Amino acid sequence: MDDALGYKGKRVVVTGAASGMGEATAAILGDLGARVTALDIKEPTVSVDRFVQIDLRDQGSIDAAVASITDTAIDGLFSCAGLPGPPFSEFDTMLVNFVGARHLAESLVPHMSTGSAISVISSSAAIGWEKQTSTTKQLLETTGFDAAVEWLQANEATWNWSGYAYSKYVIDAWVGWWYPELAPKGIRINCINPGPTETAMMPAFQDLMGKDVIDDAMGPVGRYSRAEEQAWPLVCLGSPRMSYVGGSILWTDGGWYGAMTMGRHQADWAEETAKHA
Ligand SMILES: NC(=O)c1ccc[n+]([C@@H]2O[C@H](COP(=O)([O-])OP(=O)(O)OC[C@H]3O[C@@H](n4cnc5c(N)ncnc54)[C@H](O)[C@@H]3O)[C@@H](O)[C@H]2O)c1
Repeated sequence: MDDALGYKGKRVVVTGAASGMGEATAAILGDLGARVTALDIKEPTVSVDRFVQIDLRDQGSIDAAVASITDTAIDGLFSCAGLPGPPFSEFDTMLVNFVGARHLAESLVPHMSTGSAISVISSSAAIGWEKQTSTTKQLLETTGFDAAVEWLQANEATWNWSGYAYSKYVIDAWVGWWYPELAPKGIRINCINPGPTETAMMPAFQDLMGKDVIDDAMGPVGRYSRAEEQAWPLVCLGSPRMSYVGGSILWTDGGWYGAMTMGRHQADWAEETAKHA
């Protein structure tokens, strides 16, 4: 079967394409025949059709990038850029991981074709997101970048214990929240929840939490994943062949979530973060 995933000639946008999972996603999409626009604060080394610099912490930078890439319709957005929390500020982490990512996605939707998809990278750190919906819903109900920033400033205690974990709670909530509005336009949104992955971000997680704690997030597969092992599920989720999959969370965690849910694995940090509900 030629063009099995249906990407040939499609115009796709990949954030975070300069490194890790975003870089792997951009490379795979290019190999599958898509025309790739890369958005990142750093210039990618992977070959893409177009690179536009963006700072997802800055609404003006996002608006300028959107204006420069919406000369043609967009068939897919892959939202891969992210910060790990410390050594970056918790506030910047919330901005890049959710506030800026949402502003970009909302700005691109009017330019997205029927049958297109938004595919977002969340994290297995979002475990327990369902218990946080009383506050994540408030953030999701804000309209636009500035209103989200105001909510973050007014509700700091809700999220500043970990901008990383909280941003991922919000992303998992966001896909189910937004899909009912996108579905009538023929646009899907889904996310993946990766487990520990060997990318440039990993040392920051290990420095902050300790390697033992990160190792506790490994599933029965017994190892960290490689960037490509996250990029492929993300690319599959965004494919038009997945037309009945919307508002979904795909756990790409080597079986960790299933084992945790069935009591066959324990990770103390996941129980600790659950206490913030
Ligand atoms: N590595 C892991 O173990 C792991 C696990 C679960 C989820 N994730 C998530 O996967 C996604 C990709 O991370 P990765 O592991 O590939 O990390 P990475 O550090 O290799 O890539 C992150 C990318 O985001 C870009 N970026 C950072 N700040 C930006 C900004 N202000 N504006 C625009 N771009 C910016 C970086 O330049 C970089 O290219 C992130 O959302 C991360 O939270 C990572």
